[in-house]
Amino acid sequence: GTAQIGVTGLAVMGRNLARNFARNGYTVAIHNRSYAKTESLVADHGDEGTFVASESVEDFVASLARPRKIVVMVKAGGPTDAVIDELVPFLEEGDIVVDAGNAHFPDTIRREGALREKGLHFVGSGVSGGEEGALLGPSIMPGGTKESYESLGPILEKISAKVDGVPCCTYVGPDGAGHFVKMVHNGIEYADMQLIAEAYDLLRQGLGASAAEIGQIFAEWNTGDLESFLIEITADVLQHVDAETGSAFVDIVLDQAEQKGTGRWTVQNGLDLGVPITGIAEATFARALSGSVPQRSAAVGVLQAHTSEWDVTDRDAFIEDVRLALYASKVVAYSQGFDQIAAASAEFGWDIDRGAMARIWRGGCIIRARFLNRITEAYERDANLPLLLADEYFTGAVGNGVAAWRRIVAGAALHGVPTPAFASSLSYYDGVRAERLPAALIQAQRDFFGAHTYRRTDRDGTFHTEWSGDRTEQTA
Ligand code: 6PG
Repeated sequence: GTAQIGVTGLAVMGRNLARNFARNGYTVAIHNRSYAKTESLVADHGDEGTFVASESVEDFVASLARPRKIVVMVKAGGPTDAVIDELVPFLEEGDIVVDAGNAHFPDTIRREGALREKGLHFVGSGVSGGEEGALLGPSIMPGGTKESYESLGPILEKISAKVDGVPCCTYVGPDGAGHFVKMVHNGIEYADMQLIAEAYDLLRQGLGASAAEIGQIFAEWNTGDLESFLIEITADVLQHVDAETGSAFVDIVLDQAEQKGTGRWTVQNGLDLGVPITGIAEATFARALSGSVPQRSAAVGVLQAHTSEWDVTDRDAFIEDVRLALYASKVVAYSQGFDQIAAASAEFGWDIDRGAMARIWRGGCIIRARFLNRITEAYERDANLPLLLADEYFTGAVGNGVAAWRRIVAGAALHGVPTPAFASSLSYYDGVRAERLPAALIQAQRDFFGAHTYRRTDRDGTFHTEWSGDRTEQTA
């Protein structure tokens, strides 16, 4: 065969990725379970490049030049395993299978191991940017072997988004590393979205402003440090009017946030690794709360508020406070996400370059933002930075906004506006910078009721106090 890359699974993401490869001059082998989709891709977009359509898996594989490079773009879970199982019998040593879906990274580790035993490369790759990104240039996070990246990498870099000419694609690390990084990307996406939603709610309730007015505030914010895809689309969405009712679109959307599960995986993994990703967790739970219909029905009009009217006198100062609090909370969420990447990298031996991850997230993906340049620079100053928040740039940028952050979180509490992500991010900030934490008391309690032992501040060792006896201290 002669095709340079293959795509199987031609739903909207696979279809657009295939077109992207073709538009970049590659000969693209295409395949789909039902041939009609393959045919319609050729009929609708055949003039964009060279497609080689096959009806059977065998013909599809045969149409590819070796080592074959096949991108699988189907639903995560069972459907992905099914497609891999169909492909494998026709593949030969050194061929590369790329899973570009949102797979859960433990599945990727398993699949990589199974294909490696057969002499095949399995590349679990994060791809972000939705339909439009897939077509015009996504952010791509490929894992797998370094060897596979040598032949696959240049093709993926070619079709990826570019920022200042630099591709938003780089080798992430072995086996599940690519899908892990994509998972954390999505967790950060949840946190970012929740923080923006809280900022919107604060402006709405604090100022009594309309959705469209708030949309204009977001548009203004998008010209500064907060400049990002999510702020940009928020400005757009808030100014959109529902054609049917003539009211603000956001006011006619049911307020129950759904999810497909990547945020939940991120939180579960944060618990497994013991990394406090509180921003992502609060964002995920906030979606769960919004969908807790029976609980909300039981509480509305029943739970007492004891709040006063939020009487904002200086409108511009309030808007600036919300902006600063949003920025600070956002830095916390990213700092926590990068901690999670560092912890997983150590746990699984992935050796992930965090600065490079920030670099490939600057364009193409959902969390693309000007601010990611600052993160890349921070990791350039210190590749082993223990805490992003403590980088010299961020201590200044966040420090600047701390007073505003406190006013906003305190005001939200006083006036009954739910701000789980703003508030928990500020608590994290105060917790991580505290010289001493009440964790000492937790340890003492654990030793009291369970003889779980404690360490001391003044000398090495592990100790237990005889709480129910004479309260002497023993070396444990
Ligand atoms: C991306 C997005 C994409 C998708 C999320 C949404 O990077 O392109 O993250 O993967 O929009 O899966 O997830 P929820 O349905 O869980 O909000």
